[in-house]
Amino acid sequence: MKPGLVVITGASAGFGEATALSFARLGHPLALGARRIEKLQEVAKACKAAGAPSVLALSLDVTDVASINAFAKAAGTPEILVNNAGLARGRDPIDKLNDEDIVAMVDTNITGLLRVTRAFLPGMIAARRGHVVNLGSYAAHGHYEGGVVYAPTKHAVRAISSTMRLELSGTGLRVTEIDPGMAETEFSVVRLGDTNKAKTVYEGWQPLSAQDVADTIVWVATRPAHVNVSEVVLMGTAQASLSKVHKG
Ligand SMILES: NC(=O)c1ccc[n+]([C@@H]2O[C@H](COP(=O)([O-])OP(=O)(O)OC[C@H]3O[C@@H](n4cnc5c(N)ncnc54)[C@H](OP(=O)(O)O)[C@@H]3O)[C@@H](O)[C@H]2O)c1
Repeated sequence: MKPGLVVITGASAGFGEATALSFARLGHPLALGARRIEKLQEVAKACKAAGAPSVLALSLDVTDVASINAFAKAAGTPEILVNNAGLARGRDPIDKLNDEDIVAMVDTNITGLLRVTRAFLPGMIAARRGHVVNLGSYAAHGHYEGGVVYAPTKHAVRAISSTMRLELSGTGLRVTEIDPGMAETEFSVVRLGDTNKAKTVYEGWQPLSAQDVADTIVWVATRPAHVNVSEVVLMGTAQASLSKVHKG
């Protein structure tokens, strides 16, 4: 069977970019979405060079329902939908939370993922095949100080993935939750708002790379159709818990 369409949200950087390139190398057509359209177009160009037969680079803001619906219409029905767009903003304790940070994390990580999924599922259900891959986080497996909004948003993603498996039972669709520990992408730059502060997070140890996560997504998507890898938790070897990383 010819490789089917892979739709990836948040494909302008990090896991989304690496995943797009990995599926491109396997010959999949791609529809990629993100807000930074120039960066996304660069990724699309690289994907074409890597072997994707077609690549759509589409403007997408997952906090905007009209943007999501236009993206879904332009993209078409995916064989694989990677719900990757997401972010953390700040590490403030609950009494000092910035209102904009709360709204950004909830709207992107929970509401955005729900709306994107809602937009694509009818076509996938009608096709009676397909795979939804949700980017959760190891943060969905515990709690940590400074993560009072981010971690709950990822607990919500895990609950959504689990509920989707129940609701989609019998449709032939697969749902996988990918829960990485700390990975060096633009994630900490966005979270801390400072490139130097972000660098210190990864100093003295080897975190996961975007490619490690992309490899995992490709692995779950390439299992036989009767195998659904429900959940994958992966971490750098030096990361033992949400708060313990061995450095040096
Ligand atoms: N890195 C980690 O340590 C880590 C660990 C566990 C889970 N995760 C999760 O993995 C996912 C990807 O993270 P990453 O590490 O690859 O981060 P990243 O390098 O910052 O990439 C995030 C991507 O999401 C996109 N995005 C953010 N807000 C968006 C919006 N409103 N609409 C559309 N796209 C949006 C960004 O594109 P634009 O800015 O161009 O829109 C970018 O392409 C996220 O869900 C994150 O929570 C990350």
